[in-house]
Amino acid sequence: TATGLFFAYAVLNGINLSTYFIIYDLGAAGLSFALKAAAHGHVTIVTKGAIEECNTNYAQGGICSVTYAPDTFEKHIRDTLICGAGKCDEKAVELVVRRAPELIADLIAWGTRFDKTPDGRFELNREGGHSEHRILHHEDLTGAEIERALVQSVREHPNITVLERHFAIDLLTQHHLGEFVTRHTRGLASFGAYVLNLDTNEIETMLAKFTVVATGGIARFVLPMCRHAKAMTENMEFIQFHPTTLYNPGEKPNFLITEAMRGFGAILRLPDGKEFMDKYHPMKSLAPRDVVARAIYREMTKRGSDFVYLDVTHKDPEAVKSHFPNTYDKCRSIGIDITKDWIPVTPAAHYCCGGVKVDTNGETSVKRLYALGETSCTGLHGANRLASNSLIEAVVYADQAARHTAPLLDKVDFQ
Ligand code: SIN
Repeated sequence: TATGLFFAYAVLNGINLSTYFIIYDLGAAGLSFALKAAAHGHVTIVTKGAIEECNTNYAQGGICSVTYAPDTFEKHIRDTLICGAGKCDEKAVELVVRRAPELIADLIAWGTRFDKTPDGRFELNREGGHSEHRILHHEDLTGAEIERALVQSVREHPNITVLERHFAIDLLTQHHLGEFVTRHTRGLASFGAYVLNLDTNEIETMLAKFTVVATGGIARFVLPMCRHAKAMTENMEFIQFHPTTLYNPGEKPNFLITEAMRGFGAILRLPDGKEFMDKYHPMKSLAPRDVVARAIYREMTKRGSDFVYLDVTHKDPEAVKSHFPNTYDKCRSIGIDITKDWIPVTPAAHYCCGGVKVDTNGETSVKRLYALGETSCTGLHGANRLASNSLIEAVVYADQAARHTAPLLDKVDFQ
């Protein structure tokens, strides 16, 4: 078989051969998959920088899970479907929402600290489009906290090798054995990747039974690489905009002002102080983010201005500082005291709802090639992502993929 040929070649040539091979650049998806998969076989992670450098680090708001009444799975499902504007895959929505609490427990077991109230319950935030408080968080730095816990566990794991300064350049399929393949070729499968070692400038062949791409969204190199390997992509036209990024000309990328601040009571205002979201949606400032982003854009366009304001000055200053220390420090650094001043905000492109199409196991249309996190399109987000649904999608699908590959290990010919 093609698999046999690849692996025979690897053994004869002393090539790096792993059970699981993860092309990683961004996020909780790749790291949580590595931790689960390492229970079954050796995992090699390649990343062009350090594993700490990822988008998950910038996820301020948090991670969704139904935790306490009066919230229910049905409400979280409904909010996700409404936000997705009729384009969600209901199977993916059910799967993520119902499995979320188990995966939150795993994150806690790996050492993630979510904020709690004085009586020991989780403190739940609310963001745009959510009908209930259901967002677990760590201050306004949830992504960084999840990443800290996962990176530490990955670095300490004896069955995981991390190769930093390694850049994947091509996925291996039967094409590399001289076969002509198209996206309709039956049995099209993945065998690993060619990887550029940025220190030696040499291209190394890395073979594996299972290859996982977890490298973030649209701006990343992996999508062309997956398309070249003939993996299907889907929903690439659905770009989600975040309504409130800090208007600070010259700074790129824009600093995000978390939606949790509106969940905490912050109000959107025009330059003359008037509220305007009541004209657009009954949930006002907490409407789904596409509605809020479009409303802000409309108001900016009417006035020829580049921003509107977010006002949190009516809230207790100490509570503002303790809930949003990162945002407070950032704004302070450019002369804005958010406990006294309104924050100039503007919408910005934030997340690609589409990606490499996967099934409920995270497997792409190429056998044994998995895509996780923003790289993938599971169908959960439809045309517009509900706030804080991405981190939970990442860890649920990482778990699905680890469960799916484990019983297949012995079926992949490794001689
Ligand atoms: C935010 O904190 O507003 C971002 C959360 C998300 O996009 O999921």
